[in-house]
Amino acid sequence: MRELAKRDSASMKEQGSQPTDRQVPFGRPITAAEEREAIGRVLDSGLLVHGPVLRQFESLFARFTNAPHAIGTSSCTAALHLAYHALGIGSGDEVIVPAQTHTATAHAVELVGAKPVFVDADETTGNVAIEQIEPLITGCTRAISIVHFLGLPVDMQLVCRLAERHGLHIIEDCALALGASLEGTHVGLWGTVGCFSFYPIKHITTAEGGMAITRDGELAAKLSHLRAFGVDRQQGERRIPGMYDVTMVGYNYRMSEIHAAIGQVQMDRLPGFLARRKQNYAVLTQGLREIEEIDLLKSGVADRISSHYCHALILKPKWAARRNDLIKELGERGVGTSIYYPRPVPLMTHYREKYGYREGDFPSASRISDRSIALPVGPHLGTDDMEYITIAVKEAICRVTGG
Ligand SMILES: Cc1ncc(COP(=O)(O)O)c(C=O)c1O
Repeated sequence: MRELAKRDSASMKEQGSQPTDRQVPFGRPITAAEEREAIGRVLDSGLLVHGPVLRQFESLFARFTNAPHAIGTSSCTAALHLAYHALGIGSGDEVIVPAQTHTATAHAVELVGAKPVFVDADETTGNVAIEQIEPLITGCTRAISIVHFLGLPVDMQLVCRLAERHGLHIIEDCALALGASLEGTHVGLWGTVGCFSFYPIKHITTAEGGMAITRDGELAAKLSHLRAFGVDRQQGERRIPGMYDVTMVGYNYRMSEIHAAIGQVQMDRLPGFLARRKQNYAVLTQGLREIEEIDLLKSGVADRISSHYCHALILKPKWAARRNDLIKELGERGVGTSIYYPRPVPLMTHYREKYGYREGDFPSASRISDRSIALPVGPHLGTDDMEYITIAVKEAICRVTGG
């Protein structure tokens, strides 16, 4: 191992890339003149919300995912919250939620007053352990929340059969999964609603922003009313300016024209971004495979196309305690990392205290949280960056294991 790292390090120097000079950030949004011009056009128009740009962005998104309806929102969290609210899920109801996710997945359930009931992960993929869902279903369960972890689609055939058997909705949190599909169907269209994020380091960005997609026209109309206070007529639909009625309690979760303008341009870039991620992921996989101190999450599953959000290495148990040292070593070599996710959500203080979960309750999710390091594969990076990351990981492992 040490020999391998020494040899790679020498070749890195030959390439003229001193480890400490180089920066390989975990994520960086890619925007250029087109985005600036699109924002400028919106500013010049004077129409900053309620305009045509969001509608155009929504229709581009709908076309890309093949969704009959797409509703832009201020974030993925907002879209998730709207989805539960629109489906009438609230106090006294339960929703099955994966433990291995961002806290927003569970917060959306809490925000409508329902109870998240957490389920452990499949240790080989990080996705939900589907076989553990059914025993958690009670008379109060109304929905199953699904997260496509790091962009790898969950086996939705199985989840749909389960949901159908019990008459449950499926809410898909696709925050990391734009571009991911299963048997030719984009994620987000398997369940009742699918929600996406356009946070800066996601597959595309609008700075902040989100999108809900659904096949259900009535639900789409409701989501669209709920994102704007629950008023019955949007601006432009009002015969007398300023005149409207309120038919339901809603939020202000709209996406502005400025954000939508960025998104509209980013949709053109999306196929290129996804191709770059796929290529980066393949190169990095090749390099990481030879490292005996780590395992990799399973990513290639037949009929499933991943969106390759990032690459997660899992330290073997013997080295688990050195994870943070390894992250530091990588940082010193300019390699940006992250952790997806720092702790299973039910073990975060709020959920632990409220529902009484304890350490050890989610062993697989905990193992991923405690032993993983997420490495970048975004389109801001190229093949040489993947080679650099591989060498940096080998060197860092040598340092921390004394290899
Ligand atoms: C799985 C998941 N869901 C939801 C979110 C929240 O997205 P947003 O910041 O757009 O609300 C994130 C953020 O990274 C996420 O990882």
